[in-house]
Amino acid sequence: MTDPLLAWRGEFPVLNRTLYMISHSLGAMPARTRQCLTQYADQWDNRSIRAWEEGWWTMPVTTGNLIANIIGAPPASMVMQPNVTVAQWIVLSCFDWRGIRNKVVSEAMNFPTNLYILGELDRLGARFVKVPSRDGITIAVDDMLTAIDEETQLVCISHVLFRSAYIQDVKAIIEKAHRAGAQVVVDIYQSAGTVPVDVTSWQVDFAVGGSVKWLCGGPGAGYLYVRPDLVAQLRPRLTGWMAHASPFSFADDPIDYAGDMFRFLHGTPAVPALFAAKSGYEIINEVGVDRIREKSIRQTTRLIETALAEGIPVRSPMNTEDRGGAVILDVPNGYAITQELLRRDVLLDYRPGAGIRLAPHFYTTDDEVDEVLRQIVALRDQRST
Ligand SMILES: Cc1ncc(COP(=O)(O)O)c(C=O)c1O
Repeated sequence: MTDPLLAWRGEFPVLNRTLYMISHSLGAMPARTRQCLTQYADQWDNRSIRAWEEGWWTMPVTTGNLIANIIGAPPASMVMQPNVTVAQWIVLSCFDWRGIRNKVVSEAMNFPTNLYILGELDRLGARFVKVPSRDGITIAVDDMLTAIDEETQLVCISHVLFRSAYIQDVKAIIEKAHRAGAQVVVDIYQSAGTVPVDVTSWQVDFAVGGSVKWLCGGPGAGYLYVRPDLVAQLRPRLTGWMAHASPFSFADDPIDYAGDMFRFLHGTPAVPALFAAKSGYEIINEVGVDRIREKSIRQTTRLIETALAEGIPVRSPMNTEDRGGAVILDVPNGYAITQELLRRDVLLDYRPGAGIRLAPHFYTTDDEVDEVLRQIVALRDQRST
């Protein structure tokens, strides 16, 4: 069977040098990225200060538009941020946590940055409710729904859990939150670019994510989506001069917020990171997330079936609808095996309490899927004898 998605393999030089199974952590660099970074350097060198009005100034929104198409957001509804941590704080800083409606609900398997932030929010008056996992792989949707009540102001969830690749039922959670009068911020870092996301049909209030993983955009290019009808009423406390309606008037405080997504900016954006990120978004748009998802399901299923046949416990959902792009294998001596594989240029990672994480992406061949498992099994057998 020919795989049409392998046509993009040539765009990623690292695939010729490594066995690349780490897209859940760091997507491969497109060859075009090198040209984009040269373009950035040329503009800085040749156009100097004029580069700001020739494109740099609006890049937080124009770059966001390239992601908007991938996650079902309308144009001009996204703004680039340095990372999820900052984007998340911008959202949280829009709310007052001193009233009766001061609960913030999240899941225990959310990414640590989100949990650390929510844990500190009590100093501003919030009550943090963390819904536990019953099995270390999933979060029961009923447990999430029960935790959301009339005192909940915000629900902060990950669409796909980084530790197990479990896909949460975000639609059910958003519906319940809205019925209870709460809003929802969803972290789509582990889904955007591999699992279909549609922020518009979800009617989610906020979405945050980054580009390091499935979007192949590298570090420094986080993003924030805000539901367009909410923008005008939000006043982020994490703010700065670029969020002002007319920043170059350098007006006295208080701030007069911009009416558009610039409202959620603060200081000068990381322009080189935005240049670096563009190529990844272009390629994901060209390939299309539906095709990526179809292939991902096929290859993660292949990985899981082989692992189970070899007696390796799988720490990701078995059901394809519940599973994102990564597979987590509970291999004895997982850390040591990962170190040996990295030494051999087989790229994957190990997470304590989870196991060896590995992920094919649209550029992965079936032979690579088989080969990585073959090497893991051989190392496991070698170590157990
Ligand atoms: C779900 C999720 N959120 C956030 C992050 C990272 O946050 P930040 O962009 O602040 O580094 C990761 C992984 O690095 C992640 O998997």
